[in-house]
Amino acid sequence: MPQTVRGVIARAKGAPVTVENIVIPDPGPGEAVVDISACGVCHTDLHYREGGINDEFPFLLGHEAAGVVESVGEGVTDVAPGDFVVLNWRAVCGSCRACRRGRPWYCFDTHNATQKMTLEDGTELSPALGIGAFADKTLVAAGQCTKVDPDASPAAVGLLGCGVMAGIGAAINTGNVQRGDSVAVIGCGGVGSAAIAGARLANAAKIIAIDLDDRKLEWAKGMGATHTINAGSGDVVEAIQALTDGHGADVVIDAVGRPETWKQAFYGRDLAGTVVLVGVPTPEMQLEIPLLDVFGRGGSLKSSWYGDCLPSRDFPMLVDLYQQGRLDLDAFVTETIGIDDVEAAFAKMHEGTVLRSVVEL
Ligand SMILES: NC(=O)c1ccc[n+]([C@@H]2O[C@H](COP(=O)([O-])OP(=O)(O)OC[C@H]3O[C@@H](n4cnc5c(N)ncnc54)[C@H](O)[C@@H]3O)[C@@H](O)[C@H]2O)c1
Ligand SMILES: [Zn+2]
Ligand SMILES: [Zn+2]
Repeated sequence: MPQTVRGVIARAKGAPVTVENIVIPDPGPGEAVVDISACGVCHTDLHYREGGINDEFPFLLGHEAAGVVESVGEGVTDVAPGDFVVLNWRAVCGSCRACRRGRPWYCFDTHNATQKMTLEDGTELSPALGIGAFADKTLVAAGQCTKVDPDASPAAVGLLGCGVMAGIGAAINTGNVQRGDSVAVIGCGGVGSAAIAGARLANAAKIIAIDLDDRKLEWAKGMGATHTINAGSGDVVEAIQALTDGHGADVVIDAVGRPETWKQAFYGRDLAGTVVLVGVPTPEMQLEIPLLDVFGRGGSLKSSWYGDCLPSRDFPMLVDLYQQGRLDLDAFVTETIGIDDVEAAFAKMHEGTVLRSVVEL
């Protein structure tokens, strides 16, 4: 029997989100219904609401979540009812050209549920990143569920489902940060702070946090930043160079995703260094840069989708590090809130007073 539960809906570009009844079908072949325990508020949810991702309104928002599998459809063997899982938006297909070459973290054909969740009037919903977890329950492809240690806090480990994984992976997987490297991170929200934590896990020697907000810089120190730069108080590139013997950092991670921050990353890195773009630009943004600078400075210019993660490999490993006290996921949870408080959480994200607000369900 389809179930009716509450969900957070973005109906139109820029309009405040609303909590509405949504209908969850029973899981079909390869699908699972997950009873959501906690879901973090990510900047990408706000991008959806602002029409920055696509126009497929209405959206069911929320995508950084942990919960318990309630039921599974035909043919599902990897997870079973009662399993504690972190949801992912990279359920790899196993058969696309990336998967076949042994690079499943680039999978070009990731799975989502086939059936649609709807509003009560039958309007089909677009779940954010194929998840839609600001809801009591959601329907996903079973491969979107990664089983982890059930003793871990849902509010903390759910964040691995998007922003924290994206940041840690931007440093470790995409940026390939090595022991002894210098790393600079532009933008220290949930994603950038996670990149700092990732650089620390990789034993970077120097970790430079850059933000416009001193509060974020203070938190960044707790995550492992060895130096901080307030981007509002002078030239960011010069400030990075001043902290790296005039050279620039080995790896610079742009966790904002604007042309001006990407240029800071580009010019703030050492010759032959690496730029990682993990912040998500909007469709109208353009970049203009002398091609000779791209050539002359060498190195690599990368973007990082979801931290180039492989959920089945990375989630259980990071949960273990968390449980051992080596990765402080609790530090990302600034507040826990109710399902009615998502709009207020967006406002706090704008004001910069939170790293992550996490909806408990
Ligand atoms: N690539 C991915 O897979 C992925 C995954 C999740 C989120 N994201 C994206 O990452 C970005 C960050 O997400 P978040 O949830 O951390 O957002 P957030 O709002 O929590 O953090 C953004 C931070 O950037 C700072 N900032 C803004 N402009 C700046 C500037 N010019 N210079 C320096 N700092 C500046 C803000 O003060 C804030 O601390 C978003 O674009 C989001 O969509 C990407
Ligand atoms: Zn694939
Ligand atoms: Zn996200």
